[in-house]
Amino acid sequence: MTTPPRSKGPDTRVTVAGVEFRSPVIAASGTFGYGVEFEDVVSLDRIGGFVTKGLSREPMVGNPAPRIIETAAGMINAIGLQNMGVRAFIAEKLPKLQGLTGTVIIANVFGFTIGDCLEVIQALNDAPGIAMYELNASCPNTSHGGMVFGTDPPQLWELVARCKAAARRPLMVKLSPNVTDIGLMGRVAEDGGADAVSLVNTFVSLAIDVETRRPRIANITGGLSGPAIKPIAVRMVHEVSKAVKISVVGMGGILRAEDAVEFMMAGATAVQVGTASYADPRAVENIANGLKRWCAAHDVAAVSSLIGSAML
Ligand SMILES: Cc1cc2nc3c(=O)[nH]c(=O)nc-3n(C[C@H](O)[C@H](O)[C@H](O)COP(=O)(O)O)c2cc1C
Repeated sequence: MTTPPRSKGPDTRVTVAGVEFRSPVIAASGTFGYGVEFEDVVSLDRIGGFVTKGLSREPMVGNPAPRIIETAAGMINAIGLQNMGVRAFIAEKLPKLQGLTGTVIIANVFGFTIGDCLEVIQALNDAPGIAMYELNASCPNTSHGGMVFGTDPPQLWELVARCKAAARRPLMVKLSPNVTDIGLMGRVAEDGGADAVSLVNTFVSLAIDVETRRPRIANITGGLSGPAIKPIAVRMVHEVSKAVKISVVGMGGILRAEDAVEFMMAGATAVQVGTASYADPRAVENIANGLKRWCAAHDVAAVSSLIGSAML
């Protein structure tokens, strides 16, 4: 008598912008360092991939403290995009990541002008081991008086088109949620040449200490993330997935596998996990494992079949 082959379980592979991920669960930018820092805590080979901290042309020290506070069901941060700069990342961090097989490394790129972004992309083009770029379009455009690229359609289009022309790897554009019509911004990014879009970044917010009557964040405003934003993020992912043909990567408040399933049903091909890593550094791995168990328990043979499957 022959024993039937042991089931390998659900197929968790998804493809975003031509890049295959073994799991749709990815660690989000700014909450997972440069990846190297999590090596001893997380089995990097169990997660789909990770996005690096935002990389700029020059190193940045970020904003003064306090720059992170807890709020009901979330947190506000105004880190100010502190980072070591793209060249130090390539020289000091990237070589330590070369042994990783199958974990997709996504480099998050930002700049204060389009020229800054192009320089970061050009520096990364020759660096090995990176699968994709995520362009953070929520940055102030200092050459246009501080307006944010991601909230002005013509500026977003120009930023994406020029970065796409410079990029030798797929370009995913991370949209700002601080807009009225997120579907329009998704279409503008697609039209500019984006290979995928990711959303949401944090929501501009303000918290005041009523005893001192002063802002609780030194920068005054900061970005709200965590479970508090999840229903808004799910709605936005749904709207963008209806507006574009390219893949959508969803995030905002994902804590558990069921949250990831919800984003995928709303139209996300993959998801990112940010704030949850602050409460539990192993959150991304736990959610990736939990998603596989959820699919097995619900007779879902391929996780990709969840994409856009909500009956809305
Ligand atoms: C402390 C902190 C730092 C962040 N830094 C970046 C960053 O450098 N670049 C970026 O594109 N997004 C950054 N983000 C946004 C997250 O990647 C993510 O879009 C957002 O927090 C929503 O997901 P979450 O609710 O799972 O955290 C940061 C978020 C936090 C909390």
